[in-house]
Amino acid sequence: MSESPEYESIDYDSGIHHVEKRSALSDELQSALISLQKESGTRTQWQHHHRFAGEAEFWLQVHKALLGAAAELPGRCAALMLVLDNPSERKKQLTQLSQLGSQLIHHAHTHHHVEDHHFFPVFKRAYPKLNPHIELLDGDHRVLTETLDQLETAFKSMPVIKREDNKKDQSLLSIKTEQLYTVAKRVDALFSQHISDEEEICIPALLQL
Ligand SMILES: [Fe+2]
Ligand SMILES: [Fe+2]
Repeated sequence: MSESPEYESIDYDSGIHHVEKRSALSDELQSALISLQKESGTRTQWQHHHRFAGEAEFWLQVHKALLGAAAELPGRCAALMLVLDNPSERKKQLTQLSQLGSQLIHHAHTHHHVEDHHFFPVFKRAYPKLNPHIELLDGDHRVLTETLDQLETAFKSMPVIKREDNKKDQSLLSIKTEQLYTVAKRVDALFSQHISDEEEICIPALLQL
């Protein structure tokens, strides 16, 4: 029989914790971070910490790249919508959009794997008071994985136009691009909230390890 946790487990699906419902960490989670944040300084001071170079700096660089790609994706969908009746431009935009999407999906899964299997277990051992925070980030990763799967499915369902003058194919591509745009907007919003909170939780912890 497994032992009961020594901390109070969070209700991830509640309005204050779920990544699609929260706009910040709950007061309780925030207050548990204060002592770590005091040691590491505020976000603008992290870069001056003597332990910033290395893992913390690299982690923030990875996040910046993920945020940049996620923010770019909806705009790429919108750009494709504008050139659907122009075969050469459409092909160019579709190629760029697909490359960006597949890079983002691959990069995000790789990054989450490192966090799930290395950093989060390390933090839970070093700072037991971060257990509820890591539980929240685990929940975020589950939601992000589902959404990245939806993004992959949306990409796979984009039709290949075989005849340039086929209006039916163009119409289907238009519908599928709009669906892709909707998922891409969701991915962008989820990454923004998750990464912002993850950095507030993990970077001070990493700087103190
Ligand atoms: Fe994460
Ligand atoms: Fe991350």
